[in-house]
Amino acid sequence: MSEHDSHGIQEPNRNAAAIWGAGGRQYDLVSFAISDALAHTVQRLSPKPSDKVLDVATGTGWSARNAARFGAKVAAIDISADLIDAARRLSAGVEPTIDYHVADAENLPFPDESFDKVFSTFGVIFARDHRRAASELTRVCRKGGRLCMSTWSPTAPLPDSSL
Ligand SMILES: C[S@@+](CC[C@H](N)C(=O)[O-])C[C@H]1O[C@@H](n2cnc3c(N)ncnc32)[C@H](O)[C@@H]1O
Repeated sequence: MSEHDSHGIQEPNRNAAAIWGAGGRQYDLVSFAISDALAHTVQRLSPKPSDKVLDVATGTGWSARNAARFGAKVAAIDISADLIDAARRLSAGVEPTIDYHVADAENLPFPDESFDKVFSTFGVIFARDHRRAASELTRVCRKGGRLCMSTWSPTAPLPDSSL
């Protein structure tokens, strides 16, 4: 078996992809439960209509849609094909159109410095190899660009998503 599948997902990450994707579009309810923090992160990113923006580990695309509503040209990736499928369906009609891909944060399928702004809302923190993911986020962001992340601390309580 090769190290990567056709989406560049590393073999050791495929189990995580299946677990994250198990709820399909129902994951959007979790994003709704933390939507204030997601909106805050995108406001700090401050996307402009001329910006190319990447949302890493987008889930069902909640934050990608927030960024697109600023008029930015948004691409978004997630390790789960089921979540990307849900993101595409939930984003139907959003303009500008969001360019969704199944991809691994540790192995981003984009050239160096291809985005003005790169962000992740409670997403890339779940990558297996943090050093490698951080290196990928900085690689695809242009020099002088902006990188924003929202994270939970290891000791913080998880939000209540029993909506
Ligand atoms: C807590 S969810 C956050 C989803 C979304 N960003 C949000 O704010 O609602 C974590 C996401 O990280 C994704 N993920 C985990 N490891 C990943 C990796 N190595 N590459 C890309 N996505 C990954 C999961 O599939 C899941 O969608």
